[in-house]
Amino acid sequence: MTVRSPAATRAATGLLRGYVRVGCVLAGYVFASLPAAAAPRTYDLPEPTAQLRPAPGHEAGLAAAEAHCQSCHAVDYIAMQPPGQGAAFWTSEVTKMRKVYHAPVDEADGKAIAEYLAAAY
Ligand code: HEC
Repeated sequence: MTVRSPAATRAATGLLRGYVRVGCVLAGYVFASLPAAAAPRTYDLPEPTAQLRPAPGHEAGLAAAEAHCQSCHAVDYIAMQPPGQGAAFWTSEVTKMRKVYHAPVDEADGKAIAEYLAAAY
C-alpha cells in the first residue's frame, strides 16, 4: 500500500472534482442546446418579383424573355439592375447568359430579348 501525504490526497481529489465539474458544465451545454435545435425556425423571405414588365412594341421580346430568362433565376435578377442601362448593357447581359451560363437562347431571340429589356428597364 502506498501512503500519500494529506496534501497529495487533497490535490488528487481536487483534480477529480475539477473534471466532474467540467463534465457537468459540458453536459449542461449539450442538453441546453437540444431543445433549441428541435424548435422550428421561421423567417420571411422577400417576395419575388413574379413578372417581367411589359413594353409596348416589344411583345415578342417579352415572350422570349418569359420563356428563356426565368428558368435559372428569378426575374429579380433583371429587375434589380439600375434603370436606364440601355441596349449595349442588355445586349452584353444576354450574351453573357448565353455564352457564359449556356442559357439556351438563339441569336434572334437574344436580340429581341435585349431590345425588349432596354425598352422595359
Ligand atoms: C442557364 C441559366 C441561366 C439562364 C437561362 C439565364 N441566366 Fe441570367 N444568370 C445566370 C447566372 C448563373 C447568373 C449569375 C448569378 C450570380 O452571380 O449570383 C445570372 C445573372 C443574371 C443577371 C444579374 C447580373 C449578372 O450579370 O450577374 C441578369 C441581369 C441576368 N442574369 C439576366 C438574364 C436574362 C435577361 C436571361 C434571358 C436571356 C437570363 N438571365 C437567363 C444564369 C442564367
